[in-house]
Amino acid sequence: GSTLKAAAESDGRYFGTALTDADLGVTGETTVAGTQFDMLTPGNEMKWDTTEPSNGSYNFGPGDQLVRFAQAHGMRVRGHNLVWQSQLPAWVRNLPLNQVRSAMESHITTEATHYKGQVYAWDVVNEPFNADGSLVGDVFYQAMGSGYLADALRTAHAADPGAKLYINDYGIEGENAKSDALYRLAQSLLSQGVPLGGIGFESHFVLGQIPADMRANMERFANLGLDVAVTELDDRVQLPASGSALQQQSTDFGAVVRDCLAVTRCVGVSQWGVDDAHSWIPGAFPGYGAATMYDGNDQPKPAYGAALSAL
Ligand code: XIL
Repeated sequence: GSTLKAAAESDGRYFGTALTDADLGVTGETTVAGTQFDMLTPGNEMKWDTTEPSNGSYNFGPGDQLVRFAQAHGMRVRGHNLVWQSQLPAWVRNLPLNQVRSAMESHITTEATHYKGQVYAWDVVNEPFNADGSLVGDVFYQAMGSGYLADALRTAHAADPGAKLYINDYGIEGENAKSDALYRLAQSLLSQGVPLGGIGFESHFVLGQIPADMRANMERFANLGLDVAVTELDDRVQLPASGSALQQQSTDFGAVVRDCLAVTRCVGVSQWGVDDAHSWIPGAFPGYGAATMYDGNDQPKPAYGAALSAL
């Protein structure tokens, strides 16, 4: 195919991107988003700090705008996310622990009901693990222990039984202490009948550091009966990016796309953002950037060609 989405669809997969509300006003970027990609993840607008900034008062306007953009461009939506320690308003962090469960369940029920039928998948729990495989000691863990994950998944399933329910994390792309812990958790959840449907591998990579065992690692989760997806792909480069760095980046993108295609239950790949000008990387990792397939003028980089020809 001549676009990422057409090529992915010919393999029975999708190719997604992330957009924020602010991006919707940027012409070149939205043109690429709407023509090249068939899955949309709201970059921030479905997170708790936007959707329930104070207890019981909800704000779905920004997320709704992105859903409308997706629908107008034939894109499905990955809902991101329902429960996360980050971008979590202070009112939740400061709740008495005996009120956290009901706040979490209300939040999940209200948001997943609002978007029922409009999201293909939900990242129900985002980034629950530390690098050593222990669970992050956030307010949800403090209140409920590890049982909060099962509770969150069950609550989301009750609100929108049609959405695929994911746990999404970074640093789990290869086999390591963190992905091993997630694997054991997934086994345990499935054995209890918890409606876990997929694992999201964020895939925020550093140039040249795609784990050689990414394919095998995704395969072991797929073999549990789960979907797997590359949910937030980018590949950051030390700035200024040299020509050889951009060549290595094309090798990296090709490898990730081929790893997904090699796993039957890898449903698709999403890049985190459209272009280098609007990527989160320079803000989050000073000195790094050039992390996407499109340059700052929305021209395709070598990584675009590599991704397309891998599909
Ligand atoms: C990032 C957004 O892109 C930024 O705009 C925001 O300031 C911080 O969050 N893992 C995730 C995403 O799951 O939600 C994060 O998005 C990037 C890392």
